[in-house]
Amino acid sequence: MDLGLDGRRIMVGGASRGLGAAIAEAAAGEGARIAAVARESDALAAVAERIGGRAIPADLTTADGPVDAARRAIEALGGLDGLVVNSGGPPTGSFATLDEAAWERAISGTLLAALRVIRTALPALREGRDPAILIVLSSSVREPVANLVTSNVLRPGLNGLIKSLVGEIAPIRINGIAPGRIDTERVRSLDRARSEESGQSIEQVQAQNLARIPLGRYGQPAELGRVGAFLLSPAASYVNGTVVAVDGGMIRSLP
Ligand SMILES: NC(=O)c1ccc[n+]([C@@H]2O[C@H](COP(=O)([O-])OP(=O)(O)OC[C@H]3O[C@@H](n4cnc5c(N)ncnc54)[C@H](OP(=O)(O)O)[C@@H]3O)[C@@H](O)[C@H]2O)c1
Repeated sequence: MDLGLDGRRIMVGGASRGLGAAIAEAAAGEGARIAAVARESDALAAVAERIGGRAIPADLTTADGPVDAARRAIEALGGLDGLVVNSGGPPTGSFATLDEAAWERAISGTLLAALRVIRTALPALREGRDPAILIVLSSSVREPVANLVTSNVLRPGLNGLIKSLVGEIAPIRINGIAPGRIDTERVRSLDRARSEESGQSIEQVQAQNLARIPLGRYGQPAELGRVGAFLLSPAASYVNGTVVAVDGGMIRSLP
């Protein structure tokens, strides 16, 4: 199947590693031109070089960062056909452990950053070819994750944003992707935090997680990257306003 991404101009947030890099690589492999956004690092430059894209260094948690990044991406690509809303995950913890500053970091990094980048990108997307937005969410849109109350509050909010925008921005498509446990730096640090908090070994924490995943393993970033590239592509032209889980069957709730 030809995804139809050849020459499509796509901005990808959080693209220096993990899920963002995997989506960028999969889309670039289908011929898309990528503006890869993350804070300045050798890793970001290396991803951009590997996929023949442009590196756009920016801090997406600041008020100006997402706006500035979107403007520079649109300029670098000469327009925009696709946008991947993605960045670092929000602070971990239970409600009792999260103070005002942690909530402010979570809200600006996860919720406000998404609003800001979408708002800035919309005019260019309206001029784009088969334009599509993809928001990287979490299994927390279906079921709360232990010790991650920020995600449990904010990701469902972004799901609500998808359902709100779908009627407002068509024919721009907008979808979400909900990873369960994909083996990235973020998931490794979540496992470490759980291990420290519970006094269990990392192996015990991982075994508990694996017991919930019918496929019996964590996913690989490329397995999510391929689904992300599909959702952004004209091949998914009638998929709109939905959230696709990539979790090995972990979440049992009905959609
Ligand atoms: N992996 C999973 O299974 C999973 C499950 C549920 C939800 N998620 C969510 O999916 C998103 C991506 O996860 P991941 O596993 O790929 O995480 P990751 O491995 O930690 O990668 C995060 C990416 O975002 C960038 N980033 C972090 N803070 C940033 C900032 N302030 N400004 C710009 N870029 C920033 C990072 O680069 P720099 O740090 O260099 O800027 C990196 O490229 C996260 O929000 C995570 O919570 C992941």
